[in-house]
Amino acid sequence: MNTLYVTGGSRLEGTITASGSKNGTLAIMAAALLAKGRTVLTNIPRIGDIYTMVDMLRALGAQCEINGSNTVAIDASELTSAEAPYDLVKRMRASFTVLGPLLARKGYAKVAMPGGCDIGARPIDFHVKGIQALGAYVNTEHGFVEAEADQLIGAEVYLDFPSAGATQHIMTAACLARGVTTIQNAAMEPEIVDLADYLTAMGARIDGAGTPTIRVEGVEELRAVEHEVIPDRMEVGTYAVAAAITQGDVRIERVAPKHLEPFLSKLRDTGAVISVDDSTLRIRANSRPVATDIVTMPHPGFPTDMQQPFVAMLSIAEGTSVVTENVYERRFRYISELQRMGADIKQDGRSAVVKGVERLSGAPVTATDLRAGAALVVAALAAEGKSEIIGIEHVDRGYECLEEKLTLLGAKVGRVDHERKGITLCLA
Ligand code: EPZ
Repeated sequence: MNTLYVTGGSRLEGTITASGSKNGTLAIMAAALLAKGRTVLTNIPRIGDIYTMVDMLRALGAQCEINGSNTVAIDASELTSAEAPYDLVKRMRASFTVLGPLLARKGYAKVAMPGGCDIGARPIDFHVKGIQALGAYVNTEHGFVEAEADQLIGAEVYLDFPSAGATQHIMTAACLARGVTTIQNAAMEPEIVDLADYLTAMGARIDGAGTPTIRVEGVEELRAVEHEVIPDRMEVGTYAVAAAITQGDVRIERVAPKHLEPFLSKLRDTGAVISVDDSTLRIRANSRPVATDIVTMPHPGFPTDMQQPFVAMLSIAEGTSVVTENVYERRFRYISELQRMGADIKQDGRSAVVKGVERLSGAPVTATDLRAGAALVVAALAAEGKSEIIGIEHVDRGYECLEEKLTLLGAKVGRVDHERKGITLCLA
C-alpha cells in the first residue's frame, strides 16, 4: 500500500490547472473501438484508470499509446479478440463498457462481469437490458456476459434509473445499429454530452444528449477522429473543497464552470466565495464553513462523487448538516476513518448527520476507494498535526499529479510508494 503523509494547517493558496475528465475519457476510449483508423484523444488525465483502459484496448488487439502531453492514440482497425478478461474488468468496472462497441464491430463479445466495490453492489442489469433490447442474444454465466448479434437493431430503451454508464454504453452501441434507438430516462451528466459530441464527430447521428431522452439513428460506419476531453469536474470540486476547508485562496484554470453549478451552489452555501472568470474558478474562504444539507442526485443534482470530500469539510463546519446519499447504497464507509480524526458523524441508513467540530486531529487512516481517499486527503489538510493516508493508490486512480498539485498550493505533503504500478510520474 502506498502512503501519503500530510501535515495539516496550511492555507492552500495559488493556481493549479484542472486535468481532463477520468469518467469522460474512459467512456470515449471504449467508444473508440467503433472506428477503424487512428483516434487521438487530448487533455486526458494520466491516472491509473486510464492505464487500465489502455491495457484493456490492447488486450482486444487495438494499438494504444499514451504520450507525455496528456494524449492517447488508439487504432482499433484490427481487433484480434472479443473477450475482455476478468483481471482487467475487476481492476476497473468501467472497462465493462467495451462490450457494446465490440458487439457492434464483431457481432460477438464476452466480457467479465464487474464486481461490486466499496460504495455498493453496482449491478449491470441496465446495461444488459439495453444490449438485449438492441437485438443481442445475451448469456450471463460463469461470471461473464456473452453477447451475440449479427446486426444490432434500433430499439426503445427505458432506464429504471438514469445510469451514467448504461446511458453511455447503450448510446455507443446504438450508433452502429440499424434504425433508431431512443433511450428514455437517460443520464444527463456532462460526460454523456461530451461522449455524444465525440460520437457525432465520428459520423454518428445523436439528438438529446444532456436531456432525459436521447435519440440515436444508426449509421453504417464511423470514422476515427481527434477529440479534446472535457475537464474533470470531480477533481476540480475536490480542490475547491480543499481550498474552502483550509480557508485558502485557490485558482483552478481550464475548468468548465457550467459543469460544476450544482456543486458550486452548495459550496457557496457554506460561505465560500466563488468567482468564475471564463475558464478559471477562484475559491476563497476566511472562516470556518457553515453547515448545509446535501442530497445527492443524478445530474443536474448534487454529484454523488462530491459527497465524500464535501462531508470531510462539513465535519468542521459551524452547525449540523444532514447528508443524504441517493445514488449508492454504501457510500458512507469512509466515515469511520473521519471519526478516527475526531469527526462527529452518525450514519442513519442513506443519511449521515454531521455535527461540526472545531478541528480534526491528524491520524493514520486508510483509503478504501477513490473518493473516500480524496475525502481523507481533504480532512488531513485541515487537521491538526500529521496524517498518514494509507492506500493512496486508490486516489491515484482518479487524481493526476496529486501531491505535485497540493505542493503547488502550499500543502505539506510527501509520499512513500511501496508499489509504483507503472504510473508515469507527473510531468507538471
Ligand atoms: C459512473 O459510474 C461514474 N464512473 C461514477 O464515478 C459515478 O459515481 C456514477 O457514474 C454516478 O454518477 C464512471 O463513469 C467510470 P451509474 P456508473 O450507472 O456508470 C445503479 C468515481 O468516483 N445501477 O450512474 O457505474 C448503481 O448501482 C465513480 O469516479 C444499477 O442498478 O454509475 C448505482 O446505484 C464512482 N444497474 C446507480 O445505478 C446498472 O446496470 C448509478 O450508477 C447500472 C447502475
